[in-house]
Amino acid sequence: MLHRTLKAMTAPALASTITLPNNRPIPRIHLGVYQTSGTSCTAAVTHALTAGYRAIDSAAWYYNEREVGTAITTHPDVAREDVFFTTKLQNNESFAATKRAVDESLRKSGLGWIDLYLMHSPYGGREKRSECWRAVVECVREGKVRSAGVSNFGIRHLQQLLEDCPDDKPMVNQVEVHPFNTQTAIVEFCEQNNIQIQAYAPLARAMRFRNPTIQALARKYGCTPAQLMVRWSLQKGYVTLPKSTKRERIIENADVDGFVIEEEDVARMDALDEGLVTDWDPTDCD
Ligand SMILES: NC(=O)c1ccc[n+]([C@@H]2O[C@H](COP(=O)([O-])OP(=O)(O)OC[C@H]3O[C@@H](n4cnc5c(N)ncnc54)[C@H](OP(=O)(O)O)[C@@H]3O)[C@@H](O)[C@H]2O)c1
Repeated sequence: MLHRTLKAMTAPALASTITLPNNRPIPRIHLGVYQTSGTSCTAAVTHALTAGYRAIDSAAWYYNEREVGTAITTHPDVAREDVFFTTKLQNNESFAATKRAVDESLRKSGLGWIDLYLMHSPYGGREKRSECWRAVVECVREGKVRSAGVSNFGIRHLQQLLEDCPDDKPMVNQVEVHPFNTQTAIVEFCEQNNIQIQAYAPLARAMRFRNPTIQALARKYGCTPAQLMVRWSLQKGYVTLPKSTKRERIIENADVDGFVIEEEDVARMDALDEGLVTDWDPTDCD
């Protein structure tokens, strides 16, 4: 834990990266754009890039790949190659449908390549998962996708995928992780297998900002509850994906360099775990 804390302190949060097992860097903080659309999405991405964010977490399912792509390609001060763009496969249908979905995401975003492509969920059963995963891996070989991973995969899904495709491990598993849902078992499995955790809903959708422990620690560190939760996520070693459409909050959520949460306070936050699911939890499906 001490090691992680030190690692989290070595570079300003927005500039800091982790190196994936394929040797490609991934920024520590991404702007999440779930439930944002149209000009509100384009504006949020523009604000984020201006504030120094260099990674955006989108998905086919969010219906905003076009808006994200437009905001990236039209930003006056940021080059495409400096931004890490993630998007996700909506349905695990077939090899051919997955290849088409990647092409469609490339077309809509207009970004030329996808930095990280994730299977959005494990739904569909073992065979479909492995079939679609092989298609994603082929897109990496073709240069359309730079890194490939999964999302909402439980331990069993990961074990099966590692058995079925031992030469093509996912680089990341994007799951809901925050102090109110610490996902200890999945996190441990991913750490043992060198799969990077991406923490989604790192703010627990703002549902627990009034929790007394969060309030007390925010006072102690002179930060907001949102900043405390982003900082916790970084100190745990995760790539974290806070979402906001509001410029001030986008700036606030990444302004986390001024403090380090002490080990005992990280433990107090860990102890808040109540298995809170803010959106969905397919990690246990067939
Ligand atoms: N793979 C998956 O299945 C999956 C599922 C869920 C999420 N995700 C990804 O993870 C990202 C983050 O998750 P999330 O959007 O569910 O939740 P979140 O980031 O935990 O919380 C977002 C909510 O908090 C509010 N908020 C943000 N900053 C705030 C601040 N400083 N003060 C007060 N309220 C604040 C936002 O409202 P405003 O926008 O009004 O500021 C929004 O309602 C998503 O956008 C998406 O990219 C992935």
